[in-house]
Amino acid sequence: MRGKDFADSPVRTDPREVLEDAFRRFGLERLAISFSGAEDVVLVDMASRIVGRNVPVFSLDTGRLHAETYRFLEAVRERYGIEIEVLSPDAAQLERLVRTKGLFSFYRDGHAECCAVRKIQPLRRKLGELEAWITGQRQDQSVTRTELPVEQVDSAFSMPGRLLTKFNPLAHWRSEDVWAYIREHDVPYNPLHDQGMRSIGCEPCTRAIAAHQHEREGRWWWENDDDKECGLHAQNRIPARAVA
Ligand code: ADX
Ligand code: SF4
Repeated sequence: MRGKDFADSPVRTDPREVLEDAFRRFGLERLAISFSGAEDVVLVDMASRIVGRNVPVFSLDTGRLHAETYRFLEAVRERYGIEIEVLSPDAAQLERLVRTKGLFSFYRDGHAECCAVRKIQPLRRKLGELEAWITGQRQDQSVTRTELPVEQVDSAFSMPGRLLTKFNPLAHWRSEDVWAYIREHDVPYNPLHDQGMRSIGCEPCTRAIAAHQHEREGRWWWENDDDKECGLHAQNRIPARAVA
């Protein structure tokens, strides 16, 4: 079990160093990047410069992503010559949810139930194969992420006797840093960003925002800001066991 090894590691805040360290410690079989199809594409770009075409990437296909996002995933796959593991929800669970509550229950009673079926269950399945995962979360994305470390024990998805490490290499980067990197390295990006969507998730739960608004206001806008974690990053609501 490698999960505890990082306790003595020095603090690193350069995303490329965090990625190099993650791949050095966990290799390509026990670690993967969780790619949403948004500006977290910078992680794919950085990782491909470190490990080439073998960069392990998965994406949670909720079935409700924008057409642009599906095309973008394909563009990223082709640009970097990589495989992207696209994960689907459990069919029986999804059919039960839609049959009993319809296709838009999240507008009535919150996003947790739909996200649990379309995102969390497939994520849990995938994380069961891994010892560590990498996300594109940043501190500036949400009031729930202001203390986000670059590396932490994943308290939401670790199992008894089986610690899971979570890397957030972009934790200390601001949105401007991400976009400077995208421009400097000519990284492909989701065209929805040019339509005023700064944070991109599922189509029914994402909308364009004005320049003065915070990016999170474009997600689940009918809910409170401090509720806007879908369970992928549920530990942001509870004290994290931070390392850096
Ligand atoms: S969310 O929990 O509110 O949906 P957000 O959109 O901020 O998350 O994205 C933060 C990080 O979570 C992404 O950089 C990515 O690592 C992961 N993530 C979010 N959505 C997905 C997805 N559909 N597939 C894979 N990873 C995702
Ligand atoms: Fe369902 Fe919206 Fe969550 Fe997507 S973001 S899984 S559509 S509630």
